[in-house]
Amino acid sequence: MHKNKINILIDRIKGDFIADTSGHDWHHIMRVYNNSIYIQSIEGGDLEIISLGALLHDISDYKLNGGHADKGGEVSAEILKELGYDESTIKTVAELVDHISYKGANVADKVVSIEQQIVQDADRLDAIGAMGVARAFAYGGHKNRPIYAPEVNPEMHDSFEKYADSKSHTINHFYEKLLLLKDRMHTDTAKQMANERHVFMEQFLAQFYKEWNAEN
Ligand code: ADP
Ligand code: NI
Repeated sequence: MHKNKINILIDRIKGDFIADTSGHDWHHIMRVYNNSIYIQSIEGGDLEIISLGALLHDISDYKLNGGHADKGGEVSAEILKELGYDESTIKTVAELVDHISYKGANVADKVVSIEQQIVQDADRLDAIGAMGVARAFAYGGHKNRPIYAPEVNPEMHDSFEKYADSKSHTINHFYEKLLLLKDRMHTDTAKQMANERHVFMEQFLAQFYKEWNAEN
């Protein structure tokens, strides 16, 4: 794979993420890219598809584009076409981008290829652990959500529509998604990386409730 081609894509899309304050900033994209490449080095898979998919995975995500629909696949295809990629690469990357988003606690993941699994694992690693805590509250603030409201319980969503429409407080997001991710990792490498991050979130929540309840 040619590093230069990847750098051309990076130059093309960086500006779309640089000013983000919802936890989907350029640093998130680079962490997902770097972790994807690390996982690929152990688990295999097509490095070019994984690299392009990781870099483009949050382009025009439904949470960020002001609309309600993911346009990621479509926008990725336009960009890759503009940069001269062949049709089969464009189709594979667009499909990857359209398939990796979390759709709800009771909605099964539809990723099939090793490339889709690796980018989804890397994206989910960045949703848990210390980074997960930071990003969840950044996103909550961005969407004007309360930090916590003890009277509002988490919901296990059985459709993407219900999950996407939820306006719950950010602590619920841990139960509706973040604490479930460890067991939804695909690759052994990501499963191992997830353990420490999962324990950290459990510790964070225990401390959070302790301080919330003024237990000293
Ligand atoms: P995915 O495609 O799986 O949604 P993203 O990288 O696009 O992954 O974004 C997921 C991150 O956005 C979450 O891990 C979390 O940090 C944040 N997020 C999304 N929905 C919520 C929510 N309801 N409350 C708090 N954070 C959220
Ligand atoms: Ni992401």
